[in-house]
Amino acid sequence: MRNSPAKNGSAGGNSGNFTDTIWSPPFVKSGFGISPNRSYALVSLIILLIVGAFISTRLLLDPTVLIEKQAATATTTTTKTQTDTISPKYPRPKTVITQNQPEFTLHCSANETTGACTRNKYPTMTSLREDDTITNHSTNATCPDYFRWIHEDLRPWASTGITREALERAKKTANFRLAIVGGKVYVEKFQDAFQTRDVFTIWGFLQLLRKYPGKIPDLELMFDCVDWPVVRAANFAGANAPSPPPLFRYCGNEETLDIVFPDWSFWGWAEVNIKPWESLLKELKEGNQRTNWVNREPYAYWKGNPFVAETRQDLMKCNVSEEHEWNARLYAQDWIRESKEGYKQSDLASQCHHRYKIYIEGSAWSVSEKYILACDSVTLLVKPHYYDFFTRGLLPAHHYWPVREHDKCRSIKFAVDWGNSHIQKAQDIGKAASDFIQQELKMDYVYDYMYHLLTEYSKLLQFKPEIPRNAIEICSETMACPRSGNDRKFMTESLVKHPAESGPCAMPPPYDPASFYEVVKRKQSTATRILRWEMKYWSKQNQTGS
Ligand SMILES: *[C@@H]1O[C@H](CO)[C@@H](O)[C@H](O)[C@H]1NC(C)=O
Ligand SMILES: *[C@@H]1O[C@H](CO)[C@@H](O)[C@H](O)[C@H]1NC(C)=O
Ligand SMILES: *[C@@H]1O[C@H](CO)[C@@H](O)[C@H](O)[C@H]1NC(C)=O
Ligand SMILES: *[C@@H]1O[C@H](CO)[C@@H](O)[C@H](O)[C@H]1NC(C)=O
Ligand SMILES: *[C@@H]1O[C@H](CO)[C@@H](O)[C@H](O)[C@H]1NC(C)=O
Repeated sequence: MRNSPAKNGSAGGNSGNFTDTIWSPPFVKSGFGISPNRSYALVSLIILLIVGAFISTRLLLDPTVLIEKQAATATTTTTKTQTDTISPKYPRPKTVITQNQPEFTLHCSANETTGACTRNKYPTMTSLREDDTITNHSTNATCPDYFRWIHEDLRPWASTGITREALERAKKTANFRLAIVGGKVYVEKFQDAFQTRDVFTIWGFLQLLRKYPGKIPDLELMFDCVDWPVVRAANFAGANAPSPPPLFRYCGNEETLDIVFPDWSFWGWAEVNIKPWESLLKELKEGNQRTNWVNREPYAYWKGNPFVAETRQDLMKCNVSEEHEWNARLYAQDWIRESKEGYKQSDLASQCHHRYKIYIEGSAWSVSEKYILACDSVTLLVKPHYYDFFTRGLLPAHHYWPVREHDKCRSIKFAVDWGNSHIQKAQDIGKAASDFIQQELKMDYVYDYMYHLLTEYSKLLQFKPEIPRNAIEICSETMACPRSGNDRKFMTESLVKHPAESGPCAMPPPYDPASFYEVVKRKQSTATRILRWEMKYWSKQNQTGS
């Protein structure tokens, strides 16, 4: 299915190279200089040679930073007290946590393998008494600022709405159609996604419905699990242009109109043993407390697969060597060995050792960004080309330090020298990033983002959502019960076990043009200021001949 790019085309009806890259295995896109559509056999050979017996190409794609701690802590999911990180900006409502609120766990004892979703295992709106249900009286904390981009992502349909015809056009590249009708989820699958991306994405929808039963409106949407955005804005710009197809995926860029949605890794990435975000976030927090910033190695650290993108190979030139000290310590991730050795080298403690951590994109956005930002170290962000749902909330010199794309080594050396001579400021940046991740990207907000995005999206639909003819109903039991291994483990762990005690955060209003411009300008001017410092630094270094 993956080798029929010509037939499928891109959602924008635009073809050429772009379409090809969508369907090609990740490392074909760059690094080896081989045109993806030239020879699938050649590609397969390369895969065999490089990946060896390893099952996944995607393992190579992502640099991360595996943060798998000992399994001992993995199973403590049931005794959950609400450990709230109170942010002055986003205080959690003073809800009384009912300690003995009933838990609704998976019911796998019955024969679930046939796929029937038995009713009444989990409260629905009608089965909840009024006072058990979500009450919003106590909640009105505003959502984090990055929620405002929901309005921007849906703006292409703000005046026209979304017609069924537009939705059907998004089918071209979609992996599945998901419908929510009467609080039940129906999925019509079109084609397999890479690894379990689609599985854990759909799982996320199911958990959202468990968190907010009766609150998610009816809708139909198309979801594309491939990395690269495809709905090219230029194709829908003219006065007579059709409205763009609404297509959900994990990332976007400046040229495209794809609607960004939290990626699968928030519920777990089974193939590389990255556990669900909620427990990982706790471990990251504990890990940070182990070594304080000042005692960390005063260098910039990166570990990942350099071969997925040219820019990463370029980064490798900055590694410490006989000739150069660019203040970078760079390592190639050996996924094959690490999977054999139980990901010991990917332990959390070994990932937050350095004062600086580099984030560099692979073939598109990378799920590693949140793990890197969570480290308390200063994130050195090599100029990215893609965004995901939360990264547009990050500010240069506040949450991260920008690194130039085309002169990486000098940029890194400057950043590290700057930080080591401005220890307090550097620590503040590291802390602001990990606070952002801990507070504004906690799982509650991931669900709230989904809630608001889907709610706003559904308001735009110009048709009545229906159960797709070829769809099957899906629920947590039909997904989790037949599974084993990490799939089952992560699903059990990320299962929402009772409805939310309070309503979702309050959606911030859209940017008006002036404030939108202000945000963009502020980011640019900070980046420009840093660039100017850097130029000054280098001209001084050049003069002193070092
Ligand atoms: C569960 O259902 C499947 C399919 O109908 C059947 O083959 C299997 O024997 C059943 N298992 C049990 C324990 O009933
Ligand atoms: C709270 O709930 C009521 C009733 O469902 C609704 O009318 C009101 O808009 C909600 N308030 C907020 C802030 O969401
Ligand atoms: C938030 O709560 C305060 C105090 O209860 C109330 O005055 C205000 O209207 C609420 N705002 C929203 C958006 O619900
Ligand atoms: C970078 O240099 C270090 C120290 O010499 C070395 O251990 C490491 O393997 C190098 N990284 C790469 C990707 O070559
Ligand atoms: C410093 O020297 C390097 C190498 O000659 C050069 O590439 C760079 O542009 C110079 N930078 C400044 C700011 O003069």
